[in-house]
Amino acid sequence: MSASVAVALPCFGQAIHVDAARMQWTIDTGTMSYVVGVNEEKMVQTVYWGPRLAPGAVLPMAKMGGERSSFDPAMVATPLEYAGFGAGLYTEPALKVDSADGDRTVVLEYADAHVTGDLLELVLRDKVKPIVVHLYYQGFAQGVVARWSRIENAGKTTIKVEQAASATWNLPRGTGYEWSWLTGQWAGEWQLHTAAIQAGAQVIESRRGSTSHEANPWFAVGKTKETTERAGPVWFGELGWSGSWKMAVEGTTQDDVRITGGFNPFDFEYALKPGESLGTPKFYAGYTAGGRGEASRILHRFQREVILPTHPDPKPRPIIYNSWEATEFNVSEAGQIALAEKAAKLGVELFVIDDGWFGARKDDHAGLGDWVVNKEKFPNGLKPVIDRVHGLGMKFGLWFEPEMVNPDSDLYRKHPEWAMNFPGRQRTEMRNQLLLNLARTDVKEYVFGFLDKTVSENDIAFIKWDYNRNWSEPGWAGADSAGEKAIYVKYVENLYEIFARLRKKHPGLEIETCSGGGGRVDLGILQYTDEVWTSDNTDALDRLSIQYGFSQAYAPQVMVAWVTDVPNMDHRFIPLQFRFLVAMQGALGVGSNLNKMPEAELAESAQLVNFYKGIRDTVQTGGLYRLASPEAGDAAQVEYVAKDGSQAVLLAYLHSQRYRMAYPTVKLEGLDATAIYRVRALDAAKYKGAELVSGSVLMGDGVRLGLTGDYDSTALVLEKVK
Ligand code: GLA
Repeated sequence: MSASVAVALPCFGQAIHVDAARMQWTIDTGTMSYVVGVNEEKMVQTVYWGPRLAPGAVLPMAKMGGERSSFDPAMVATPLEYAGFGAGLYTEPALKVDSADGDRTVVLEYADAHVTGDLLELVLRDKVKPIVVHLYYQGFAQGVVARWSRIENAGKTTIKVEQAASATWNLPRGTGYEWSWLTGQWAGEWQLHTAAIQAGAQVIESRRGSTSHEANPWFAVGKTKETTERAGPVWFGELGWSGSWKMAVEGTTQDDVRITGGFNPFDFEYALKPGESLGTPKFYAGYTAGGRGEASRILHRFQREVILPTHPDPKPRPIIYNSWEATEFNVSEAGQIALAEKAAKLGVELFVIDDGWFGARKDDHAGLGDWVVNKEKFPNGLKPVIDRVHGLGMKFGLWFEPEMVNPDSDLYRKHPEWAMNFPGRQRTEMRNQLLLNLARTDVKEYVFGFLDKTVSENDIAFIKWDYNRNWSEPGWAGADSAGEKAIYVKYVENLYEIFARLRKKHPGLEIETCSGGGGRVDLGILQYTDEVWTSDNTDALDRLSIQYGFSQAYAPQVMVAWVTDVPNMDHRFIPLQFRFLVAMQGALGVGSNLNKMPEAELAESAQLVNFYKGIRDTVQTGGLYRLASPEAGDAAQVEYVAKDGSQAVLLAYLHSQRYRMAYPTVKLEGLDATAIYRVRALDAAKYKGAELVSGSVLMGDGVRLGLTGDYDSTALVLEKVK
C-alpha cells in the first residue's frame, strides 16, 4: 500500500483518497463519499456511506462490532465489506467456499491494496487457506460506485465456490429505514413496492436463469419519516447481471442494515482449479440527499454516460414501427411494405419486422432455431422489403430469438443435444420452446454465426433480441472444468460475448433487449443493448404504472413504448392522444395496424409524432421529474428538463374526473427560477395560463390545466427565453 496520497481522477471528476496510516480508503463521487477501512482484526469493513465528506475529514477507525453475548458474536455485529461463511457468521455471506478437504469456511483478512487510475483494489486472504479475494471499487462522477469481486484459487487443489456475491452494502446503523423494490409478471412488470426494513431478511431474486419479470435487481432505501420523491436520503443500487441473481436486504436485531447481492447461490457451484478465478457481476450503488426522484436521475444519467454501449452521449432513439401487434406471425412482403409506406408517412424512422419471417414459423409451435427467410412469405428474400423501407427514408430492423429452439425445427432435429436438459428427464416446454445451452462453445458459435451472416447479407440496422421463456432443466452434459452448474455463469458470459462481437463487427448495429417484454433488463445487458422492450402490455393506463416503476431504475431513453390499437389486453377504449402522450414518456414507437387506421387518426398520429420530435431530446437525455404518481390518484404527470435547461416538457394525464373537481394545479420542478419561459401548449384550450411565465411562478404557483372527463391528457413545452 502506498503512502497517504490523494489520487485525483480528472477524467471522472472524482477521487480515491488513501489514508495509509489509518488504513482507510475514501471514494468521493458526485455528492457522496464511501469509506472502507481495516479493523483491529484485519477485517475489511464499511466505515461510511453517505453525504460527501469535506476534504481531509477524519472518521473514527474501523472497529469490530464486539461480542454482545455468547450468542451474538462480533462477526455478526461488524459491517463487513465481504464476509465469508465462517467464524460465527449467521447473516448472509458474500462468499461460501468448499475447500474439498472437509473445510467449508472462509475467514478473510486484509492483505494488500492498490489504486490504479480510478480503481481501488483491496486484496483479502483467507486466514488459513490459499483463497484470495480481490475487492474492486470504481467511482463515477455521476455519484455511483461500482463494486465487484474476484475469487482466486491460489492453492494447489481444486476448490468449489458455493456462493459468491458481488458486494455487501452496509447502511449506517439505525432504525426507521424503508426500502423500495420492483416485482412483476409477464404484461405486468415494474410494480413498485415500499416496506419498512425490520429485523429479518427480505429477498428479491431470480432463480430463472435470466434477470426475470418476477423481480428486478434494483433497490432504493430511504428513511420512513424523511424520504420523499423530492427530498431526503436514498441509498440505492442495481446489479449488472442478466442471469440468476439474488439480493438479500437484512435488518439485524442489532439495527444493522445490509444489502448483499450477486450470483444467486441457489443450485450454484463453480469449481476453481489451481490458479483459476471467478469474477462476480458489478453491483452499482449511490447515495443522494435529494429524494427518490434524484436517485433515479442519478441512475438515468449514469446509464447514459457510463453503461449504454454508445456512452457517454448516446443519440436519442429513433421512432420505431413494429408490426407485431398488427400482423403477429402473418408477415409477408406485400403486407410489410404496405405497413412501411403508411409508417413512413407518420414520421417513423426505423421499421421492424417482428416474429414470423423465418423457418416454418406459422405460429409459435415451429421454426425457432431455423434462421433462414421463409420463402412462402418472402419469396424474394428480405431485400425487396428492406429496399422499400430504405427508399421510404427509414432504417430496417429484424426480430430474433437467438437462444431458443422449437422441437419442431430443423435445428432441433439435427442437434437435440444442444437444448438445455438433464439426460433422461423431460424437457419442459414453455411456449412450445426449449432453451439452447449457450454455455456450450458450439452453440455460442452457431448463434453468433447466423446473426453475423444475416446482418452481413442484409442491410439490417437493428435487432430486436427476444427471449421468451425461463430455464427449467439447467443441465450441461459435457460441461467444462468449472462444472455443470457453471452454466449459470458461462451462459451469460457467452451471451455478452456474442453481443460484444456482433457490435464490434457491425459498428452501426443497434440492439433492443426483450424477454416477453421487460423480462431481461439490468445493467449487464444494457452495456450491450441500446433499448428495452418495456412490456408486452401496451394498454396506456397500465403503462402509466409500468413506466412509473420502470423509471425508478432505468432511463427514459431506453424505455421503448408503442402506441397500439384499442381495445387492447384490458379491453379499454383509450383516446389516441392519451396513448401517444403515455408512449412519449420514453422512446416513442408505433405498433398499430396502420392498414386499418382511419385517415383522421393517421393524420393525428403524424402530428403527434412530429410533436414528439420537438421534445425527444429533452425526454430522452434530460432529467425526469415524477410530479404525480399514477398510483396515488387519477391525475398523473411527468416533467423532463433538458440537460442545458433550455427546454422543459410537461406530460399530464387524467384517468377519470370525479365530483366535478378541477384538475389539480401542477407545480413544475427543476426550472431556473430567475428565467422566463415561453409556454407552448399542445392543446391551447387546455392551458389556462400566460404565454410568458417566470420559472419561479411555474414552480411556486404552478400551472392550471383544463383536463376533464376520462382519459384526458395534454402536454406543455416550456422554452427558456434567453
Ligand atoms: C414476445 C415479445 C413480443 C413479440 C413476440 C413475438 O412476446 O415480447 O413483443 O416480439 O414475442 O413472438
